[in-house]
Amino acid sequence: MATSAKTKPTVFIIFGGTGDLNHRKITPALYNLFLDGWLPAEFAIIGTGRTELTDEQFRNNLLQGINQFSRKGKAEKAKWKEFSEHITYQISNIKEAKAYAEFAQRIHHYQQEWQLEPCIVYYLAVSPGFFPVIAENIAKSKLAGTLATTRIVIEKPFGRDLASARQLNTLLGSIFEESQIYRIDHYLGKETVQNILAFRFANALFEHIWNRNYIDHVQISVSEQLGVESRGDFYETAGALRDMVQNHLFQLLCLVAMEPPVSYHADEVRNRKVDVLNALRTIRPDEVSQVAVRGQYGAGWIEGKKAIGYHQEEDVAANSAQLTFAALKLFIDNWRWQGVPFYLRTGKRLSETDSVITIQFKPVPHQSFPPEATTNWQPNRLIINIQPCMGIRMQFQAKRPGLEMALHPVEMQFSYDDFEKAGAPTEGTPEAYETLLLDITRGDSTLFMRADQVEAAWQVLMPIIEAWEATPAADFPNYEAGTRGPVEADALIAKDGHSWMV
Ligand code: BG6
Repeated sequence: MATSAKTKPTVFIIFGGTGDLNHRKITPALYNLFLDGWLPAEFAIIGTGRTELTDEQFRNNLLQGINQFSRKGKAEKAKWKEFSEHITYQISNIKEAKAYAEFAQRIHHYQQEWQLEPCIVYYLAVSPGFFPVIAENIAKSKLAGTLATTRIVIEKPFGRDLASARQLNTLLGSIFEESQIYRIDHYLGKETVQNILAFRFANALFEHIWNRNYIDHVQISVSEQLGVESRGDFYETAGALRDMVQNHLFQLLCLVAMEPPVSYHADEVRNRKVDVLNALRTIRPDEVSQVAVRGQYGAGWIEGKKAIGYHQEEDVAANSAQLTFAALKLFIDNWRWQGVPFYLRTGKRLSETDSVITIQFKPVPHQSFPPEATTNWQPNRLIINIQPCMGIRMQFQAKRPGLEMALHPVEMQFSYDDFEKAGAPTEGTPEAYETLLLDITRGDSTLFMRADQVEAAWQVLMPIIEAWEATPAADFPNYEAGTRGPVEADALIAKDGHSWMV
């Protein structure tokens, strides 16, 4: 178990304290960090929102969130009591200076009580429209501090296009140092996502074949059975490109394609990632229809249950042209990846919930075996299972037992359960938010998006966003819930002689 000496006294101010993200993710993650001894003895959580609540009511709401969503299950009474004493609630209008004067008073109170200068973490779990006003008010109230004393955490989406992301970066940059700004992409906190770096750069085995000479193509697929749930309001302004591709899928792409970093230092890792984004080939407006497919789900069936279409979801316009599915074919113009297609795909209300990266290697240069031996032959594939399965699988050919030579594809597998067998028992897999919150309190920004990364990611997507916004799809909904998405996405990859692996 870790010692709490690793983080300094911290006050978390959670904007959007009564919201879904705090309920499901932030407070359950902080509670687990507390249970595992990662939080210092001196910490405070101030939730803020517009609803009038007593501290006790607020704590009870959070307790329900923990009981329902924490990976460790229901909170134990005594531990919860101890933790909840660190939580208070402040009703506030975050547009008014008065709210920030109250924060300052509360911070001062903790400072007096602890006789130590705390680190303040402003967590903006609010809709993006409020980011600027909160940042400006923090500045006006002289609460912006320095990296040693203050951090601001911004949830995605960071901007809704290149221009708005730049504007937000400029505003934040005028108030905070870049090292104080933590742009969250929760995929980067996932164990299996962090493991991509470990797999690639702590092993000598694959690096010399990790390039255009041996790799035929790469697939990055993030499928969800879930629909937009209660987030119709948000989703209507976002859609699959902004919600998933610009951040989560591009980060996975960067980790697969980046050059080896010299050190595991935040800026070094992020420099190598931004190199990938900068090398992504610019998509010309007239190419969009050949390299990008959009989709929206209609009603259907998922695992025997009826699922409504996107148009019938709560807070969604009956004729909405918003996309719930996107598939792209991208190229990285550099020495390592020239000519290797990267196929990306994500969608809601698909048949499976599965996030998988497939690296498909090139065929053998010459087939030595007779045709009858190779009827089941398949190229080598390395499959990185992000979730819900967590592991890595290597597919290769083996001789099928028998008197004749016949090849058959087989797999070698690593699963996270294997750590136990390898004599390295773990304390369970932390939720992405646990890892990220701990990194924020330690001031480590390796797993967060830097300003230039966010802008480079938008830059790549802008031609597609503009083309699609200029011509809304006339055929939506174009896939049934519970299927693999629109047939055009299969055609996108089939044109090159491939098919989606999952
Ligand atoms: C969020 C998106 O960032 O990621 C959601 O806003 C999506 O739409 C979610 O469902 C997926 O995250 P995870 O961790 O469940 O794969």
